[in-house]
Amino acid sequence: MAPTRTALIDSPSEAARLLNAGGLVAFPTETVFGLGVDATSDEAVRRLFAAKGRPSDNPLIVHVAEIDQWRLAASALTPSAAALLAAFAPGPLTVVLPKRPEISSLVTAGLGTVGVRVPDHPVAREVLRLAGAPIAAPSANRSGRPSGTRWRSVLEDLDGRIDAVYRQDGPSLGLESTVVDCTGSVAAVLRPGAVTTEQIRRVLPDARESFGAPSSGAPTSGAHEAVRSPGVAHPHYQPRAEVRLVDAPESLTLGGSERAAYCGLQAVDRLRGSFELYAVYPTPDEYAAAFYEFLREADRRGVARVYVQLAPDEGIGRALRDRQLRAAGER
Ligand code: TXA
Ligand code: MG
Repeated sequence: MAPTRTALIDSPSEAARLLNAGGLVAFPTETVFGLGVDATSDEAVRRLFAAKGRPSDNPLIVHVAEIDQWRLAASALTPSAAALLAAFAPGPLTVVLPKRPEISSLVTAGLGTVGVRVPDHPVAREVLRLAGAPIAAPSANRSGRPSGTRWRSVLEDLDGRIDAVYRQDGPSLGLESTVVDCTGSVAAVLRPGAVTTEQIRRVLPDARESFGAPSSGAPTSGAHEAVRSPGVAHPHYQPRAEVRLVDAPESLTLGGSERAAYCGLQAVDRLRGSFELYAVYPTPDEYAAAFYEFLREADRRGVARVYVQLAPDEGIGRALRDRQLRAAGER
């Protein structure tokens, strides 16, 4: 890949201009930073996959400024998607719908469906409004790495590989959107996120979960799920440091003398002095918001091993736990 000079920008109109010219522009959303590109341009989308080092079988989410702009990406709005968008958009939700032909087939990895999201972040919405086009935006990180929730983290991964980074940090929920397949008779949650399954079932009582098969074991919910959740088998969210999941911090013992880090909801005061980096969060929401940046900071400090307390399997904790299992290579 030929090196590109990456500009730092502060204006939505500059971001929109670059996107309309086929550029790659990272901008903040309420979940994580997205790396935006015109979803109708094969050439621009090809550049994006190369910049991220993303496997071509992992489809991208298409972003629009307003709910009724789903038409820019999808050919039909199913009743389940209409109900979910009415309840949770703009917000951290992606609905999978039948694809519109104008969307590049590279965006959807050759599938007949497309993920559509209306983000709830003033910068993202203004950029999308001014661009006036469907914008594909995966998380703005090198493929496999923890997602970027700060512009400096985006630059750390993608400087010299993309055209611009929007220089503004969150508020950021810290985890990617909930992805729901709305093309079938029953809606299926393909990726847990800040909109929880409990919230989705208040709108669609039959909605089912279709994630969570461990990479090592047999799928828990039918072989066809692998087809419906493309790309999830690739490594995700992994720092260079080894991630060790901790169920019960009170009985944690440290292995060797290597430099280690700890993050969790529960303090481990007796070991605190042994950690190079140590963070205890008061709530699962704060833990989720900080998690990716914690992993990145561990790498910056050259930590060899990160002890990660598993989040409780409920509410936002279910999504955080999914990312923790993947960071450890266990899902
Ligand atoms: O919060 C988010 O969703 C962020 C921000 C930037 O909007 N974006 C994001 O994109 O997380 P990415 O590329 O890192 O994740 C896209 C996810 C993948 O799990 C992919 O398999 C799924 O969405 N996806 C996209 N299109 C799909 C489709 N047509 N069918 C099933 N899953 C799809
Ligand atoms: Mg990603």
